[in-house]
Amino acid sequence: VKHTAGTVYLVGAGPGDPELITVRGANLLREADVVVHDRLVSAELLSLAPLAEHIDVGKSRARHAYSQGEINDLLIDRAGRGACVVRLKGGDPFVFGRGGEEAAACKQAGVACVVVPGVTSAVAGPGAAGIPVTHRGLSRSLAIVTASIDASLGQPRLDYDALSRMDTIVIMMGRAGLAEVAAKLISAGRDPETLAACIENATTPDQRTVSGTLATIARLVDSAGMNPPIVTIIGPTVALAD
Ligand SMILES: C[S@@+](CC[C@H](N)C(=O)[O-])C[C@H]1O[C@@H](n2cnc3c(N)ncnc32)[C@H](O)[C@@H]1O
Repeated sequence: VKHTAGTVYLVGAGPGDPELITVRGANLLREADVVVHDRLVSAELLSLAPLAEHIDVGKSRARHAYSQGEINDLLIDRAGRGACVVRLKGGDPFVFGRGGEEAAACKQAGVACVVVPGVTSAVAGPGAAGIPVTHRGLSRSLAIVTASIDASLGQPRLDYDALSRMDTIVIMMGRAGLAEVAAKLISAGRDPETLAACIENATTPDQRTVSGTLATIARLVDSAGMNPPIVTIIGPTVALAD
């Protein structure tokens, strides 16, 4: 693709390994005038755009960075000045990435916005540990949920009864809430012996996996001292790990 000036490209960077970006995403990075990126995006990918303006809008708990509204304004401002803007987001932009909000803000401002999908850690994280999210005869349904709750949105709680009946459950952003989610799944009737695994820093040289059961996984992750980013997979396919 040749980029179009004054456009915002919402590009999925993939789960961690810089080689797991799409060809289109890498080509757009090479042509970008401005790269607006998250904290987890690898330096190797950013080096594809050495002359572009780089803006790290990543949010960490210790250091407040840009609000979502400020990010939206930044994208609209730079594109409005005619720049080719790459908004580089971890994994896929539309899987717990707030890409939809950025696309909507662009549309409202009359700025062209193009989505370039990415490899999501929800699937690639377990995959990198040798765990398929579906498998013939073992799992034919997959739910991807977040354990993080934004109380300000007044969203209904997760439907744990329905969730507990899915063959495979993938939990994102679940480090803090993992024990609670596991306990609620068990209360909703899921067998506590269901296999579970947590994958930390999936697809990077620091990848680590801890395996256990629904009843034990939260404690095992604590004692292993695992830190985000972590993706958790619960279900029978965990038996196929590596
Ligand atoms: C804000 S969400 C963004 C997800 C992203 N859009 C995607 O499709 O992968 C961040 C969460 O993704 C998961 N995650 C992202 N990269 C990961 C990695 N390399 N290893 C394990 N989990 C990862 C973690 O659950 C993390 O808390």
